[in-house]
Amino acid sequence: MRRLLITSALPYANGHIHIGHLVEYTQTDIFARYWRMTGRRCIYLCADDTHGTAIMIRARQEGRSEAEVIADMSAAHQRDFAAFQIRFDHYGSTNSPANRALCEEFWASLRERGMVTTKDVTQLFDPKEGMFLADRFVKGTCPKCAAPDQYGDSCDKCGATYAATDLVEPRSALTGARPEVRSAQHLMVAIEPERPFLSTWTQGEGRMPKEIANYLAGHFLSEPLRDWDVSRPAPYFGFEIPDAPGNYWYVWFDAPIGYMAASKEWCDREGEVFDDWWRSEETEIVHVIGKDIVYFHTLFWPAMLKSARFTLPSRVQVHGFLTVNGEKMSKSKGTFVLASTYLKHLDPSYLRYYYASKLSSKVDDIDLNLEELVNKVNAELVNKVVNLASRSSRFVAQTGLSAAYPEDGGLFAAAAGEAEAIGAAYAGFDYARATRIIVSLADRANEYVDRMQPWALAKQPDRKAEVQAVCTVALNLFRQIVIYLAPVLPKLADDVARLLGCPMDRWELAKTPLVGTKVAAYEHLMKRVDPAAVEKMIVESRPVEETAAGTGGAAAGAAAPAAIAGAAAAQGPAASGGAAPAVEDDGAALAKEPLAAECSIDDFTKVDLRVARIVAAEQVPEAKKLLKLTVSLGGDVRRTVFAGIKAYYKPEDLVGRLVIVCANLAPRKMKFGVSEGMVLAAGDETVHLLSPDSGAKPGMRVH
Ligand code: 2FM
Ligand code: ZN
Repeated sequence: MRRLLITSALPYANGHIHIGHLVEYTQTDIFARYWRMTGRRCIYLCADDTHGTAIMIRARQEGRSEAEVIADMSAAHQRDFAAFQIRFDHYGSTNSPANRALCEEFWASLRERGMVTTKDVTQLFDPKEGMFLADRFVKGTCPKCAAPDQYGDSCDKCGATYAATDLVEPRSALTGARPEVRSAQHLMVAIEPERPFLSTWTQGEGRMPKEIANYLAGHFLSEPLRDWDVSRPAPYFGFEIPDAPGNYWYVWFDAPIGYMAASKEWCDREGEVFDDWWRSEETEIVHVIGKDIVYFHTLFWPAMLKSARFTLPSRVQVHGFLTVNGEKMSKSKGTFVLASTYLKHLDPSYLRYYYASKLSSKVDDIDLNLEELVNKVNAELVNKVVNLASRSSRFVAQTGLSAAYPEDGGLFAAAAGEAEAIGAAYAGFDYARATRIIVSLADRANEYVDRMQPWALAKQPDRKAEVQAVCTVALNLFRQIVIYLAPVLPKLADDVARLLGCPMDRWELAKTPLVGTKVAAYEHLMKRVDPAAVEKMIVESRPVEETAAGTGGAAAGAAAPAAIAGAAAAQGPAASGGAAPAVEDDGAALAKEPLAAECSIDDFTKVDLRVARIVAAEQVPEAKKLLKLTVSLGGDVRRTVFAGIKAYYKPEDLVGRLVIVCANLAPRKMKFGVSEGMVLAAGDETVHLLSPDSGAKPGMRVH
């Protein structure tokens, strides 16, 4: 079989890995692990995508060099990937000497073939920062619908796309300066001459999902392809173009070349020949990407590869986006979950299995329904798969497995016969099908154990041989299932290898039963998913910098109380609800935040609301949203409250003011100290502190 070189899209170095990214890395990792298990020569490569304006600006803001920023992020990415059992053969960086050398090689061949042209490009320029502004760094009013505060490429409100120069009242998102329109010469790559080639190549059998091939044919390849702008004038973090000083390759020029640079570094390390992997018909190249970056991978990239005479990808596998509970991932809802946050609460195997059970070769978006995750993992993995071992291994801990494989009514042979179908499903990226078949095998194995009842047999001293035989069958069926699941759940496979003292890392092992071996003492292979842990993860994923570092505490797991700008509500301006309606008289506020569920008078009186006077207010310099308030509840009773109102009030304006405080809220440990109450406020996008009428005194109960 041909060698296989597999890649996932290179993650940007300006952000951490989140559960949306993990769809793709899990998808690719399963594919690579399956092929490794079959014995096929296969490498899985990735790298950080390091260049571009965003990194440059981040580095400036953090007062560090770009090199430092990208080194830290690379370490963080690799830590997260390793924890999710994503096993790369090599992880590189686009900011590497290998990548620079390859970029130069590509450039020379594009030049040689006359594919490079120049064009004057008009862009917005920030005179304060002295740089041209990428679209995401310009904001202004939408030229179509007049929505304010829109980015330079598209409008969030009406969906219009436009040039940044079309924005009304544009301003630099970096400095707030009014940008100037300036022109600079850019280098372009003409790909129109490659249109006939691309029209054929994209439609090749199995090259990419059919819907993508059709989309390209209908949308791009039916008309002339526009030249591709591949340069950016200084200042830009990237590689300077050797024959155009002061100009840098645009990040998307060098990013896919990063696949090859990672291969080159791997080849150098392993003593392999680079051209065997990138200039050989004996290698199959598979790129796994998201649907948002199809254009780069199916038009520019093959055109570039062809110009430099490299091997073209055999397949571009495209997946859809991730939604969580049916909606776009959302920071405010806590569904924008970082890999590192997930890992604090849940076992990575859960997510790997869930994604596998949802992924097919189609481009459809996949939904992570958190309730379904809990139910699926508990019902399928814990109750059906792992339970097979926990129900049978202890009865053979003394004796080991039978010396010969017992009669099992054809169960083992039937499951061995599924190896091909399951393997084909993995090879075809249809993991939903693979897991369906595997779960049906687990069902059959459980029926067997239920029927044979080894626990009942074990109570009868004269039936020891039968117990051993039944458990030998059960554990063999279990082992087969875990081998089939090994691409998805490598850690489970490793743990079972220890339990049964046998290798689990080759596909063909599922064909031969294991006999006459010892069985180690059973240790938990997988815990049930605890819904409370899922909830804690969501709570921690709501804007967190200023909420409690830990997940204990009074508010963990609970939604922020309505209209309270204190500890638990510090994630944003006051969450709204009960106290909000009076803020606007046109009903807009009510429509935005409908009334919360009814509560009883008893519920209400549990909340001890008091008039309080702010006696001190100070900035918390490290916090983005918080002010530290000291409030007096009358007499000597004082409380410290961290309130998310920094953006709306100056500390000096608050001192002396009467406010309403929830006084019996359990103290909450936060990053900057303990918050001992909440200050009530109304509003959604702004905050209006609530105050009593004149005459009220600190300490008075509010009712
Ligand atoms: O979309 C992204 O996240 C890019 N960083 C992917 C680059 S993939 C490849 F071309 F390098
Ligand atoms: Zn608009």
